[in-house]
Amino acid sequence: MEKGFVVAIDGPAGAGKSTIAKLAAGKLGFAYIDTGAMYRAVTWKLLQSGETFSPGIASKIAREIKIVFRPENAVNRVFVDNTEVTDAIRTAAVTRLVSSVAAVPDVRTAMVRQQRRMGQEGGIVIDGRDIGTVVFPQAQCKIFLTATVEERARRRGKELEAKGEKVDYIKLQDEIAFRDKQDSEREVSPLRQAEDAVYLDTSDMSIEQVTDKILDLVREKQ
Ligand code: DC
Repeated sequence: MEKGFVVAIDGPAGAGKSTIAKLAAGKLGFAYIDTGAMYRAVTWKLLQSGETFSPGIASKIAREIKIVFRPENAVNRVFVDNTEVTDAIRTAAVTRLVSSVAAVPDVRTAMVRQQRRMGQEGGIVIDGRDIGTVVFPQAQCKIFLTATVEERARRRGKELEAKGEKVDYIKLQDEIAFRDKQDSEREVSPLRQAEDAVYLDTSDMSIEQVTDKILDLVREKQ
């Protein structure tokens, strides 16, 4: 394995990035870095603090927060300042606010610095919105993973139903479309396909097919 190899996976909410990135990392023997979880962790801490959201508060939290990933079996456990937040960062309250937090320039600067530090040795699969364009523009393998809004809502809905939640699919589609818009239209590091990324529409693909395709692309680049 070439030292320093980075697999960058970007794409909109609910495209299956984290599922695929985790599987691909396992097969490659790479570490997995979930950058969305990092923006969620900052958002969680902001909500915990009881403060009202402002760019200043969010930036302060992003500069001070200590985020640690501890992979355990199939679960990528997430800790903030030694408290486990693996499930807490996936709540509706965090999901509603996270795009606004992630749009704050100083929050992004702090997170990107941590992401580069975590990935400096390479041997990583890292997913997010700006990985191939900003965080690791030199990544050897870049993939832009997407699917139709309807399909992404269907997948997210199935996950929520599996957890026993009642799902309003139209509302879910609207929320996903809203987050896409916020993430794509923000001024700093908007969601965008890198010029040298491979575009992969997974609407009609299974998880195994997408993972295999990514492993093929990595082998081609090695
Ligand atoms: O992938 P996710 O849904 O967990 O990401 C949560 C939010 O964080 C998403 O709305 C966009 C933002 N994000 C980002 O701006 N940049 C990244 N590299 C990863 C996520």
